[in-house]
Amino acid sequence: MNTPSQSASTSETTAEKTTVADMTESETDSLQTRKILLVNGVNLNLLGKREPEIYGHTTLANIEERLTARAASYGIELICIQSNHEGQLIDDIQHHGLLADAASQVDTIIINPAAFTHTSVALRDALLATQKPFIEVHLSNVHTREPFRHHSYLSDVAVGVICGLGHLGYQMALDYWLVNSYRIDLDSNS
Ligand code: DQA
Repeated sequence: MNTPSQSASTSETTAEKTTVADMTESETDSLQTRKILLVNGVNLNLLGKREPEIYGHTTLANIEERLTARAASYGIELICIQSNHEGQLIDDIQHHGLLADAASQVDTIIINPAAFTHTSVALRDALLATQKPFIEVHLSNVHTREPFRHHSYLSDVAVGVICGLGHLGYQMALDYWLVNSYRIDLDSNS
């Protein structure tokens, strides 16, 4: 977000400003599509059935419904995707983050890449290609688990990482974008 001191002079029109960095906050806000992409990776379609002692009893459909409703109550569209196939996730991230027309692209991303976290340079590259900021979420605390789960190919390029807080971690990520991307006052909607 730009501070007023970074803004270009008021006599310029938006069209004359060549980069987003030259624009005021209200001008960059007007470029936002108010869409957020929620990405869930491999095996997360099994939530509720899969190792509930680790991943909890909440299903993915339940998480998606709750987050979609919460986002909608603030006028934000949440686009939810899940796949067990790395290439499909990459195609979807490319589409929603870069290839769709500007009005259909998402502003930000929330992603639980699941096991692809620990293996996928390709997913990292796809996220970087979109230039959309993203938050990485894990239901379990990966740092208390097997050593191969301690490394993530995404964390160093994520805005933030939430892990170990179960399904609430997704809502925390959503709330972060509501506040920090759209400057929504969450307390005013209760
Ligand atoms: C996970 C953690 C990963 O290590 C694991 O492969 C998953 C889920 C989580 O949400 O805790 O499938 O991303």
